Amino acid sequence: MEEATRKFSRQPVRDEIWNPFAQSIFYHQSEFEDEAGYKKLAERLEKIDKEHGTRGNRLFYFAAAPNQFEPILKNLKAAGLNETKEGSWARVIIEKPFGSDLASAQELNRVVRHAFSEEQTYRIDHFLGKETAQNILVLRFANSIFAPIWNRRYIEHLQITAAETLGVEGRAGYYEGAGALRDMVQNHLLQLLCLVAMEAPTDLSADSIRDEKVKVVRSLRHFAQSDVGANVVRGQYSEGAINGKTVPAYRAEEKVDPKSMTDTFVALRLHIDNWRWWDVPVYMRVGKRLPKSGTEISVHFKKAPGVLFNKELTDQNVLVIRIQPDEGMSLRMHAKVPGTSFRVEPVKMDFHYGTSFGKASPEAYERLLLDAMSGDATLFARRDEVEEAWAFVDAIENAWHAKKDAPNLYFYPAGSWGPDEADELLAREGRAWRRL
Ligand code: BG6
Repeated sequence: MEEATRKFSRQPVRDEIWNPFAQSIFYHQSEFEDEAGYKKLAERLEKIDKEHGTRGNRLFYFAAAPNQFEPILKNLKAAGLNETKEGSWARVIIEKPFGSDLASAQELNRVVRHAFSEEQTYRIDHFLGKETAQNILVLRFANSIFAPIWNRRYIEHLQITAAETLGVEGRAGYYEGAGALRDMVQNHLLQLLCLVAMEAPTDLSADSIRDEKVKVVRSLRHFAQSDVGANVVRGQYSEGAINGKTVPAYRAEEKVDPKSMTDTFVALRLHIDNWRWWDVPVYMRVGKRLPKSGTEISVHFKKAPGVLFNKELTDQNVLVIRIQPDEGMSLRMHAKVPGTSFRVEPVKMDFHYGTSFGKASPEAYERLLLDAMSGDATLFARRDEVEEAWAFVDAIENAWHAKKDAPNLYFYPAGSWGPDEADELLAREGRAWRRL
């Protein structure tokens, strides 16, 4: 751990902090299936409690394959490790993927609940721990100027892009069965959409915020099988170049089926069927091996009336929330070009976290692990949110895997912005993806 910390920590390791901390790291090895191993763990933890005054608090972090959850949970319970003693707590963090469809997520929730209550369960979605994702609530609800225009009267459409230059990076074992839709859209992108689209919560408690978020996912218009092809583009990267370096096709990556139909890119056009967002299209795209890495949300406002200066203007006001990198926000407006003529051009008002606050934001996981230790579940996904998101995604997956009339899988060269069909999704409505 010391080696890894020295290598990856975003701050230099200070010995006077590390050394005493290292004294409280213990390692206990066992097999997931071995009941006796959990009993020994329980005894060991009790001993540590006595020696170090850790008061019986337990946080179990599952970064295991979902099919291993059941034996782990069963054995933790059998060893009484899920129970809390007076004044102490026991919690469990569950890594994604939280199931692979609605049925498996429900089953997993059932299995977890058998050992840990909903209050003890922390489903991690690390996008929620990103500073800029949290700032969406502040932007929307601490600034009175945005609230009146944050709706279908003024907003023309929304875009969310999560682009990565990375490929599958040796994770084919997991990724082959997941694909971009399950890996990124079901969780990270829908969570971002919730923050952008939700109503104001009554207070900042975990459940008040999650009550509002779940209404957004519940309002997503589910696709009928016949609509998937026209609204969802699935792609897979073929050989290409990233930063001038040739990279292999997805199908040629290690442990990937040479005939794999797994999506490494998805673009979709969706709707939130509620009063605020009725008729406002939301475009999302996510992909691996794209030319640039970056995640951003852009809010495209309706054009000003086509009179006066606006006659020739094709640009709209756009508010961009940059989740990463170069975290910040910018607002595109029109301004007069200095001079005697009345030329109007777009300009940008820009806010960068780095320059305004002068310090780097903590990594999402730093924040989330600390929150789980202090019992704050605000930035974790609740059971109903996860299940509603799967219900939306399942309709698409089912169409893709249908025996008859399944929509195409389109190939795109690594280092391009996905298949042309993704551009057409917007172009047919006179729109284009924002350039990152
Ligand atoms: C993970 C996905 O949840 O998020 C990965 O499984 C993806 O496929 C990663 O690369 C992206 O996260 P970040 O924080 O690096 O943008």
